[in-house]
Amino acid sequence: MKLSFTLNGALVRVDADPDQRAVDLLRELNALDVKEGCGTGECGACSILVDGVHKLSCLLLVAQLSGRELTTAAGLGSQAAPHPLQRAFAEHGAVQCGFCTPGMTIAASALLAQNPDPTRDEVRRGLSGNLCRCTGYVKIVDAVCAAARELGDAPSCEVPDGEAPGEEGQP
Ligand code: FES
Ligand code: FES
Repeated sequence: MKLSFTLNGALVRVDADPDQRAVDLLRELNALDVKEGCGTGECGACSILVDGVHKLSCLLLVAQLSGRELTTAAGLGSQAAPHPLQRAFAEHGAVQCGFCTPGMTIAASALLAQNPDPTRDEVRRGLSGNLCRCTGYVKIVDAVCAAARELGDAPSCEVPDGEAPGEEGQP
């Protein structure tokens, strides 16, 4: 099947098996920031935006990409010009091994696009489909709240009084 789509702003034309999984095609196209963890829709590592909507690329087929606008974490920002979320993850220690980070930042960007002033609970719920095996989530929520405050007002995302680091477990 011949198809075209945009990937991080660049037009891509490919001849691919329509039944191939999107995560595999994207990685073949060198979008190596799209990770495969579980391959079954459980971990969120393969998260991408499709026309601005958060999707799991391990559950998408190539045929579903035709004519779409795809964004991976590399399309949010670069090392030289990071997205506020990417900078906040680095500054708040929300990255350890980094495997979940591209998917987390994609999910967080979709969350903030829908809800620019989330509470910490809303951030936890918004990221509940993205698993991290390293950080314990407190720093990830801190980072998303910091980015929300940078991008807008987001007063709801302050650390609540009396909440000590470590009180937030898996979202
Ligand atoms: S690899 Fe897609 S959700 Fe885990
Ligand atoms: S930083 Fe290692 S899995 Fe999240």
